[in-house]
Amino acid sequence: MSAKILSGKVFAQQIKEAAVAKAKEIEAQYGVKPGLAVVLVGDDPASQVYVRNKDKACAQVGLHSEVVNLPATTTREELLATIDRLNADPSIHGLLVQLPLPEGLRGCEKEVINRIDPAKDVDGFHPINVGRLVTGEPGLVSCTPAGCLRMLELAGIPIDGKRAVVVGRSNIVGKPMASLLMSRNATVTVCHSHTRDLAAITREADILVAAIGKPKFITADMVKPGATVIDVGINRVAPHKLVGDVDFDAVSEVAGAITPVPGGVGLLTVAMLMANVVQAAEQQLAHK
Ligand code: GUN
Repeated sequence: MSAKILSGKVFAQQIKEAAVAKAKEIEAQYGVKPGLAVVLVGDDPASQVYVRNKDKACAQVGLHSEVVNLPATTTREELLATIDRLNADPSIHGLLVQLPLPEGLRGCEKEVINRIDPAKDVDGFHPINVGRLVTGEPGLVSCTPAGCLRMLELAGIPIDGKRAVVVGRSNIVGKPMASLLMSRNATVTVCHSHTRDLAAITREADILVAAIGKPKFITADMVKPGATVIDVGINRVAPHKLVGDVDFDAVSEVAGAITPVPGGVGLLTVAMLMANVVQAAEQQLAHK
């Protein structure tokens, strides 16, 4: 059996088209474009690529975008003052600080996230937004898991009553992914590095989400025939070669549907960020 390929490009395009339409409505109604500010501290090359992609996506979708580049020598106080300024800027509806922070600021990541106005927290990392997700209140949800859920919905893959297994328990992907799947009435199991007999659990999954950070960790024997497999991993195994957390070639012979790497979930993340900026703008402008 050969799995259906869930192309990130196709679903990201659909998510972005919806954001374009909503952004136009907002501009017509309020006379302002939804705006995103991305703060990048230091010169990490991978982060520079991510930030450039976010800026480009804003231009594509018709959003206002501001990239604030700060030197690696920026102090905690300077970074917090930048966040305060952007929190107060009415042209900015979404604000994120690209992570990881440079070494000197690594200990400040929690404080930095907590300083962002929860209404502008388009990463969905602020504890207020995490709490809203867990309690089922409307809020901003972390882009990667939100994009994965939107893709499942757009692809017409049933979730209600299904067994979902999330491998990985990070705050950015694993935990919010589990909450989202639960909110759609899946029966969810979260596995991690201390899980015993992992393969027996993953084999029960109708929907398997791999967010581990280990190249080709999920092998064909760990997948139930016909399952939907979502690969959140992006592992650089050679200067120009990326692989996911799933052994794509072997697993695509067993799965019913599978996301590729590259060209899968990574594209959904940026598309969902655009959706979150539009959602944040709509909320802020409606309650002004
Ligand atoms: N670094 C890697 N992924 C992300 C993300 O989704 N948001 C932020 N702020 N930094 C990241």
